[in-house]
Amino acid sequence: MASTSATTFDPARALPNAAFRDQAWFDAELEHIWHGDWVFVTTEDALQNPGDQIPVTVGRQPVLLIRNQDGELGAVSNLCAHRGTLLVDSPANGKRIQCPYHAWTYTDGGRLLSVPFSPKGEVDKAAHCLPAYRVEAWHGLIFVSLNPDVESVATRFAGIDTVIDGRGLDGLHHWSEQQQSETWACNWKLAALNAMESYHLFQVHPETLEPYTPTKDAYYVAGSDRATATGGASKGQDDYILISLPPGFVGVLTGDSFIWQAVRPIDTTSCTVLTGGAFTSPPPERASNLAAKWLTKATNAAATLALPDFLPEDKAICERGQRGAEGDYQPGLLLEVERVVADFGRYLDWRLNQALVESRGA
Ligand code: FES
Ligand SMILES: [Fe+2]
Repeated sequence: MASTSATTFDPARALPNAAFRDQAWFDAELEHIWHGDWVFVTTEDALQNPGDQIPVTVGRQPVLLIRNQDGELGAVSNLCAHRGTLLVDSPANGKRIQCPYHAWTYTDGGRLLSVPFSPKGEVDKAAHCLPAYRVEAWHGLIFVSLNPDVESVATRFAGIDTVIDGRGLDGLHHWSEQQQSETWACNWKLAALNAMESYHLFQVHPETLEPYTPTKDAYYVAGSDRATATGGASKGQDDYILISLPPGFVGVLTGDSFIWQAVRPIDTTSCTVLTGGAFTSPPPERASNLAAKWLTKATNAAATLALPDFLPEDKAICERGQRGAEGDYQPGLLLEVERVVADFGRYLDWRLNQALVESRGA
């Protein structure tokens, strides 16, 4: 059972500093959020062809995403059922999965097919399959859950569907090869919260974002502990919609782009921040790995939202937040302009505290 008392807090206020430093918080999050809820892993275009395999990590668990021969998405453990070796360590394509250690070989559904140097009957193959996990796509985004009982992604994000319907998200091309990943020296929740709220734009991004998407023109659209949408004026274009899908995915949708950020935990004081985008044009034929090149090269007018300078500004303010986390303070009031922060607090409270009660049938 989770350390319910260790994660008690008031969702109407800012999170207590314990949330950003205590191992008890981190352990509860790993168990009930990263290993118990849906986790965004990549975009669907990364697995376009039958046989495509992509290794991802969900919480602490290595998972292999697979597009099988029938074109269906699957997710299995990426650890060999023999002695636990990591099976696939970079994107690959094949009908089978073969371990690099002793060549135990599996189908693309995780069924054990062959065991070299083993007489017939020595290994019960049915008992040595790769465990399969839940995997679902939502508007080109792929989510995996290690929890077989979690509600479907479609149910989870239904409230957001009505907001983005007709805004062209499904017509955009994701540029998965241009995704960028970096490590930030802050708790994952500092990065996630920062990505959600538009309150800080005028102060943290006076030159990069505020001139295009000012704080004063941001507004709340719809939300709950499941997902939240906000909006705002976007210079020279229709308003943008910002969707926050906890625990760690945030995307900004304009008429012709979808720029997103996904946060994953490393430990109490560091996290991974993955960024990516979808645009009206298909990705360039030959992808460049130069950092953030896709951001500056995107010809869409909407790419003004993706000016390359804003991410270091966010990183700096989040790491500054972490520098204060060893001290204590009385969590402050959340304003109406940052209502999404309260929604995120309610999400945490739901997953860390209430979901346990629900699952026990109380
Ligand atoms: S560890 Fe995979 S075949 Fe031995
Ligand atoms: Fe920011």
